[in-house]
Amino acid sequence: MSHPTLVKVMPEIAAHALVDRARYDEMAAQAATDPDTFWAAEKDRIDWITVPTKIKNTSFTGDVSIKWFEDGVLNASVNCLDRHLATRGDQVAIIWEGDDPSQSRHVTYRELHADVCRMANVLVALGAKKGDRITIYLPMIVEAAVALLACARIGAIHSVVFGGFSPDSLANRIQDCDSNILITADEGRRGGRKVPLKANVDAALKSCPMLKSVVVVKATGGDVAMMAGRDVWYHEAAGAVPAECPPEPMNAEDPLFILYTSGSTGKPKGVLHTTGGYMVWASFTHQYVFDYHEGEVYWCTADVGWVTGHTYIVYGPLANGATTLMFEGIPNYPDTSRFWQVVDKHKVNIFYTAPTAIRALMRDGEAPVKRTSRASLRILGSVGEPINPEAWYWYSHVIGDDRCPVVDTWWQTETGGILITGLAGAVDQKPGSATLPLPGVKPVLVDAEGHELAGATEGNLCLADSWPGQMRTVYGDHERFIQTYFSTFPGYYFSGDGARRDEDGYYWITGRVDDVINVSGHRMGTAEVESALVAHPKVAEAAVVGFPHDIKGQGIYAYVTLISGEEPTEALRKELIVWVRKEIGPIAAPDEIQWAPGLPKTRSGKIMRRILRKIAANETDSLGDTSTLADPGVVDDLVANRAA
Ligand code: WTA
Repeated sequence: MSHPTLVKVMPEIAAHALVDRARYDEMAAQAATDPDTFWAAEKDRIDWITVPTKIKNTSFTGDVSIKWFEDGVLNASVNCLDRHLATRGDQVAIIWEGDDPSQSRHVTYRELHADVCRMANVLVALGAKKGDRITIYLPMIVEAAVALLACARIGAIHSVVFGGFSPDSLANRIQDCDSNILITADEGRRGGRKVPLKANVDAALKSCPMLKSVVVVKATGGDVAMMAGRDVWYHEAAGAVPAECPPEPMNAEDPLFILYTSGSTGKPKGVLHTTGGYMVWASFTHQYVFDYHEGEVYWCTADVGWVTGHTYIVYGPLANGATTLMFEGIPNYPDTSRFWQVVDKHKVNIFYTAPTAIRALMRDGEAPVKRTSRASLRILGSVGEPINPEAWYWYSHVIGDDRCPVVDTWWQTETGGILITGLAGAVDQKPGSATLPLPGVKPVLVDAEGHELAGATEGNLCLADSWPGQMRTVYGDHERFIQTYFSTFPGYYFSGDGARRDEDGYYWITGRVDDVINVSGHRMGTAEVESALVAHPKVAEAAVVGFPHDIKGQGIYAYVTLISGEEPTEALRKELIVWVRKEIGPIAAPDEIQWAPGLPKTRSGKIMRRILRKIAANETDSLGDTSTLADPGVVDDLVANRAA
């Protein structure tokens, strides 16, 4: 199928857009030449207890120090709740749609405020104080948003762990930030199945002596063990505390949250975001990127366990007084019309999802979509991985009936919010391209030596200057922060992505250039999967790479060398997949395992991943130079015995 390569801004969208092309150009120019004035004005979208007078104070060299609005004082939960009470207390803040289509809830700003205060008071009663790290391991229920905001209210730092992670992964994250309180639920619900969250917590806490209290939300009513002196039922504790809780005044640079994310080496790192800059960025980007208008219903399908859920389900929309939809379920339960049924049921205007979901739904054709109206939809968004033009068109044409702009948004856990995207009312879209930087964002492409490349070109995607939502450090390890992001190309923040820039200055993200794989829009470090595999008693060595996957974008391909004497059987292959699911979580399970009697290594013992990626992708006629390998014969065996 051939499609246009340029989709012009739709006049009916531009006519009412908050930002049209002229305004975008003006904002971009001012933010570039005079960031202090630009961000001094934008800071006013947030309510400050003490209005900051210092705006930007950042350096990407030496010790790397990033401060925005550093003499400002605020509270994030007040910005998401209290300040709306006078004008929109009875407006719905959160529409919750259950996994079971007969279940939904509407929570007003006033009700949410009371719920957050109660949760905050429960935490205080358990001894929580400003600066404590509180771990949140919850399904997609309203209490997840309540928990984030309750931590923000008392100045505790939340660390959300995705409910799909294993007990071990949960334990590692609790230990790394020395967390003392955890908020969980009895069970989660997804696609008609139950997820044993509390049981996972009980397993994880065996190795977490620092964790003293567990708050348990009753979500399904499933039977769970409660440990006296450690575990409390949320509904019981909440009934015993007031629905008012004074907000803690926070400096703009006080931490708001930690969120663990995978990198190319070692364990996941705790990305740390602070309060002032993050809130300005969340509000600014949510409003302009989605052209959010008063009264609209906005739905981001991410899980609150990922950064997209933090910024674009909770902080951005609530700071802007929006109605945000939280969905507990999955796109294909009870059937593949579900997303669009939810859109019709709640009259959703703005819809934000991941390409992997679009590609999975495309497989079922148009019929499940066309059974629904979707007339309320106005803007569509995409995030998490490159969206291939085919999926972009299907999204635009089949879902949006050619009347809804599609905005492809590029960003990362580290960036706090969207950096590159085409504002719906301002920027002509090129399907497959994330298009142009937001005002205040300075992307550059650099070559392997770190030299900036000009014009239409391809290179490593870096940011030349700071923006308010940028991460400030790796929790407890500033040196690792500098090493990971600022040492490869000194003076720049390096994203880990590659990109192409075309003659119109549009950015086309080509994917990770490091050892991170992007599986269904979720980041996974190859080193993490390898270390889970070698922890199995029968595995001697493992090398993991990504390979192109029709639905997931990238799949996980593992080369496994068994210890001598062990037989490579089908049963063992299955056992290893289950093993990795248990060690890390289902998202890390290898799609393919190839038995490798040996791995291609240089004479100094370094695994040549380039070759392994080629074999996994079935590009075996372009393996390149293998003469530097210690044993070139290894490659012939791997090529001959490709998995699948
Ligand atoms: C990838 C998710 C292409 C990219 C918000 C990045 C994308 C990583 C896009 C961050 C996009 C995200 N086009 N690639 N629109 N959005 N990515 O930290 O490789 O979970 O580095 O943040 O996802 O993933 P993370």
